[in-house]
Amino acid sequence: MIYSRIAGTGSYLPPRVMTNDEFAQRLDTSDAWIRERTGIVSRHIADEAQASSDLALAASRNALQAAGIAAEQIDLIIVATSTPDFIFPSTATLLQAKLGIKGCAAFDMQAVCSGFVYGLATADSFIKSGMASRALVVGAEVFSRILDWNDRGTCVLFGDGAGAVVLAAGAKPGIHASRLHADGSQVNLLSVPGNISHGRIVGSPFLQMNGQGVFKFAVRVLEESARETVAAAGMTLDDVDWLIPHQANVRILEATARKLKLPLEKLIVTVDHHGNTSAASVPLALDECVRSGKIRAGHRVLLQGVGGGFTWGSCLVTL
Ligand code: ACO
Repeated sequence: MIYSRIAGTGSYLPPRVMTNDEFAQRLDTSDAWIRERTGIVSRHIADEAQASSDLALAASRNALQAAGIAAEQIDLIIVATSTPDFIFPSTATLLQAKLGIKGCAAFDMQAVCSGFVYGLATADSFIKSGMASRALVVGAEVFSRILDWNDRGTCVLFGDGAGAVVLAAGAKPGIHASRLHADGSQVNLLSVPGNISHGRIVGSPFLQMNGQGVFKFAVRVLEESARETVAAAGMTLDDVDWLIPHQANVRILEATARKLKLPLEKLIVTVDHHGNTSAASVPLALDECVRSGKIRAGHRVLLQGVGGGFTWGSCLVTL
């Protein structure tokens, strides 16, 4: 039996840090309101010259270095993003070119904030089936480009960044189990409904959200998904060392941990200094914890996505 294993992690955050006070100078909001309702204190914002593929490139180089694998050895690239450089070609093919390689399969994964978990589960399946042996899975976003900066209800929530893992074939797991879901009837909870047609933008090009609807939906499915995935791996929640849910806001994360009866010490929180970076949030949090030594080889980590669509899912991984 072939399994897949995370061989290395990497991430990149654009240097510009934006604090809550900067919003308070322009909008009817405050640092206290944003902290209390979301747990967010600051976020990173990409320079106008930086596209998702640039952030993805920096994160990928870090992950490749950590794995001790050369870019030429990668045979699958999946980039999870809702803020691609172009409508087409995919950001994954742009990343491939920036890495200076060619030939391997490369495609984008569009599952909004669940994109990285969807991508990891897909790469795991490629490796288990023998279709690939060394995959680069990246979450990269510039959500700052799709925000209405005058809408206090949404613009304070998000940030830019990228995270990456190298997934390699191995004799033992690795990824124990993954479970993915979607419910397209919930499309109106969170969307950027605009598109380009006949040379014009049709509909809104800005993120729209039903905040309370998202909150309730996210907490419910994160709990269900955690239980389902751990059971699929033949384990219990006691076997989980760390929970890394999509970093949407601290209240969603803590409510999920409480429902699962997981001690808050096992909950990884980076949304306070990253904001919500959509598909990048889980690999960014993972890499930060690996580099700080908090998450180490042998630790069991439950990675969880939830986002627009609605989409959700989890992967249970031993580092
Ligand atoms: N500053 C000050 N006031 C604000 C702000 C702000 N930044 N944003 C909204 N308000 C106001 C509203 O206008 C409203 O005012 P009103 O009573 O005069 O109409 C009031 O605050 C209450 O608004 P609610 O939407 O009811 O506030 P709520 O307590 O639900 O908090 C929030 C809003 C933080 C968005 C919350 O619903 C939430 O966390 N939802 C989850 C959304 C989320 O995490 N989205 C991320 C994307 S989805 C994903 O990643 C899965």
